[in-house]
Amino acid sequence: MFDFTGKVVIVTGGTRGIGRAVSETFLLSGATVLATYATNEVTAADFLNASDSYKEKLFLYKFDVSDYAEVESFYKLIDKNYEKVDILVNNAGIRKDSVLGMMRESDWHDVIGVNLTGTYNMCKFAVLNMMRRKSGRIINVTSPAGDFGFACQSNYSASKAGQVALTKSLSKEVATRGITVNCVSPGYIDTDFIKDLPEELKKRYKAEVPQRRFGTAKEVASCILFLASDVASYVNGATLKVAGGL
Ligand code: NAI
Repeated sequence: MFDFTGKVVIVTGGTRGIGRAVSETFLLSGATVLATYATNEVTAADFLNASDSYKEKLFLYKFDVSDYAEVESFYKLIDKNYEKVDILVNNAGIRKDSVLGMMRESDWHDVIGVNLTGTYNMCKFAVLNMMRRKSGRIINVTSPAGDFGFACQSNYSASKAGQVALTKSLSKEVATRGITVNCVSPGYIDTDFIKDLPEELKKRYKAEVPQRRFGTAKEVASCILFLASDVASYVNGATLKVAGGL
């Protein structure tokens, strides 16, 4: 659909689930993709060996997006090896659900740390690189939880609402530098992220979705590519819902 030949794209959490679909779709559209991941070596290796057609354009980096020093080291490598970052997709995310009264302090900090602070860390260095070249695209993967505020997800919902607010502020700061910053907000998407939910609950969630099904990672990826493309040049500070009408 789009041609990203010559573009350097960073996808955090880019080796599985929605992130992998985003990485693959960019690769198939000609981009060089730097896919990051936190821990799962097996999934990362599977991805790298999945297809010979894009192997030479896919590079994997393992670090924790919530760790400022690790992110800074990653960008030092990027500056040295690629010089530029055209597109950043902040997709890495976790959830650690419980009612707030029972929520461990560490579960609060972990979720805010990866989802929100991770987005700040990754944006900070990307934006410096993009501003030098007066061009760039940032897409943050948020969630309807940030809008609705789901029970048992105060940490997750707060982190996702925070991402939207960060997106709006940053989009205004960089608007005259040829950079756009937007969010994609996926509804229920069939990935490992919701694998642990009880079947009964999944059935109820499906019934709540007007399209009566969960979305696919590919359906989210297409929308991210749209926001990263030239045709979306006047979309800035926006959130695109990919949620089957939810
Ligand atoms: P997933 O669990 O399959 O993937 C999460 C990715 O985040 C993994 O690649 C993992 O390596 C990475 N990650 C986790 N902690 C990290 C850390 N500290 N540093 C670096 N990377 C880290 O989940 P999925 O579904 O692909 O989720 C991707 C994004 O989509 C998340 O931000 C999630 O909040 C969001 N989302 C997912 C929905 C769903 O129903 N699957 C719905 C709405 C939003």
